[in-house]
Amino acid sequence: MRETLLAHVQVPGKVILMGEHAVVYGQPALAIPVFGVEAHVRVWRLPQEGPPDISLDAPQVQLEGVSVSALPAEHPLRVAVEQALSVTQKPPFPLRIEIVSTIPMAAGLGSSAAVAVAVIRGLTLALGHRLSPSEVSGLAYEVEKIHHGTPSGVDNTTVAYARPVYFRRGRSPEPLEVGGVFLLLIGDTGIPASTRETVGRVREGWLQDRESYEARFQAIGALVEEARQALAQGDAPRLGRLMSENHRLLQELGVSHPALDALVNAARSAGAWGAKLSGGGGGGNMIALVPQDREEAVRQSLVRAGALRVWRTVLSSEGGRRSTP
Ligand code: PMV
Repeated sequence: MRETLLAHVQVPGKVILMGEHAVVYGQPALAIPVFGVEAHVRVWRLPQEGPPDISLDAPQVQLEGVSVSALPAEHPLRVAVEQALSVTQKPPFPLRIEIVSTIPMAAGLGSSAAVAVAVIRGLTLALGHRLSPSEVSGLAYEVEKIHHGTPSGVDNTTVAYARPVYFRRGRSPEPLEVGGVFLLLIGDTGIPASTRETVGRVREGWLQDRESYEARFQAIGALVEEARQALAQGDAPRLGRLMSENHRLLQELGVSHPALDALVNAARSAGAWGAKLSGGGGGGNMIALVPQDREEAVRQSLVRAGALRVWRTVLSSEGGRRSTP
């Protein structure tokens, strides 16, 4: 008897369009899936008799044939498996979970959330449970806590629903209305960034000067509301201006980086409607909203200004669409 494939799932990456950091403090954020980079999980039933062990193959994090029970209790993959098993029966036969992700790690593209969602969805599906996006997202949130400390939940929500969302902490996500075609380029500084660290930096600032930090969070929240309207109306120039304004406020929160600022400026001077850092900041990536006829110019300008990689993604009424490196 050979191995039997019980489930294969794929989960997209994500970028935060507007509202990062302020979202941790209760303000809304807009986030979109990025297709073309994905976490794939395949769950195999093994032929051998023997204890119903679950083993993992995740070559990108140097795990090959490792039993889940041999991982430290706080290991995100172990926690993801345990979250899945909290809603299903333990399998009476041995399983192998294979994880392959093309989402770059520590780049603000939601790789940890996508892997958690894929493992939870794949394993529960393999054991006969089809969970809703909301259920999968709730379980993946427990895994996200290990990475971030106090995550808002925007990453796991966006990748579990795999559609553009208006997100507010502790509330059900609302679908985002998209009234036009928006082309986004995502530029990677190549600088590994720790979201935990930048979230901590903002918290320290907030503890020292609550009034001005809260004013900035509120200002970001107001930009997000306006951006939601601009998206619904298909108004790219207005959305671009709002994104650039959001970047300025993120700079004031101390989470930008000279390499991010260089890419934001390069995109804007090459004709982008607007640009900002995306995600935790301190490195990682930025996004630029680009008129279709400026795509090549902005891409080249980003590369000249130091972008290691540039992805494109199109946001339209059909949701996120194909992205290519
Ligand atoms: O670094 P990312 O892409 O995972 O995004 C973090 C977003 C923050 O708002 C900074 C934190 C959070 O939990 O929402």
